[in-house]
Amino acid sequence: MSLVTTKEMFKKSIDKKFAIGAFNINNMEFVQAITDAAAEENSPVILQTSSSAIKYARIPYLKKMVEASLEEHDIPLALHLDHGPDFETCKMCIDNGYTSVMIDGSKYDFEKNIELTKKVVDYAHERGVVVEAELGKLAGIEDEVNVAENDAMYTDPDQAVEFVEKTGCDSLAIAIGTSHGAYKFKGEPKLRFDILEKVKELMPQVPIVLHGASTVIQEYVELCNKYGGNMPGAKGVPDEMLHEASQRGVSKINVDTDLRLAMTAAIRKTFTEKPEEFDPRKYLGPGRDFIKETVKHKIKYVFGSSNMA
Ligand code: G3H
Ligand code: 13P
Ligand code: ZN
Repeated sequence: MSLVTTKEMFKKSIDKKFAIGAFNINNMEFVQAITDAAAEENSPVILQTSSSAIKYARIPYLKKMVEASLEEHDIPLALHLDHGPDFETCKMCIDNGYTSVMIDGSKYDFEKNIELTKKVVDYAHERGVVVEAELGKLAGIEDEVNVAENDAMYTDPDQAVEFVEKTGCDSLAIAIGTSHGAYKFKGEPKLRFDILEKVKELMPQVPIVLHGASTVIQEYVELCNKYGGNMPGAKGVPDEMLHEASQRGVSKINVDTDLRLAMTAAIRKTFTEKPEEFDPRKYLGPGRDFIKETVKHKIKYVFGSSNMA
């Protein structure tokens, strides 16, 4: 099978009320763990690279690793640019065979966000590539842009309708209280499901995306802390809330932090328990296993995309 766009998988997700996991990748272990897990669950999956992932690993390596996974697995798989910061980065990914790009104009005002998104949509659609856009601001770090918590702005559902109509984007990331990274909530986790409900009421057929959706798995935080890490108060979006989001019309759920934690927990544990070890396969391997376990859990018990390939 070759790479696909997100069109069919999103249509299915809306019809059957489940979400598709979009997992960030930077290296081979992540690609293998995520695609092995998705294949075992017979689930569609999205692999995404931020522009800093591209700087780190470089497009030819990322693209060929993702394609290599399709030699082993027969599942719908999209390669997506996460948080494209400008037209040029989106163009570069489209020209290099990505099947989906995100243009993140959420840092701009409404009109400029529309103008930039439309420009990317025009270029992408002419080449059969789909576009995710963002309206509203998440607190935390958005791919090199640091949005202060009090600057975070929930998405306005009426503006969202106008935005989708004017830009022609294929999916929309909305801000309902999630944020990027490992410290999402100071108090109790809270999401504005009322905003999601209104958006879906107004645009039932538009695929909705949730960024900053890691659970910040406490088992991995505890392992990190136990083996020399320092992550006090790390907290994310509980599985139950993510499951509810998948039932209430979110089609794509973005996860990066949980996979980073899984890899780091395994590495820290191995380094502490086997200080004599210096073969990278002996610590990257357990990291890959933890990531695979994490992705399988999300697909099966949280997003509901098992057997939806
Ligand atoms: O939303 C941001 C993603 O977690 C990517 O982060 O820019 O550090 O690769 P990154
Ligand atoms: P997390 O930091 O919650 O994993 O969010 C990742 C994300 O939104 C990537 O775009
Ligand atoms: Zn994001």
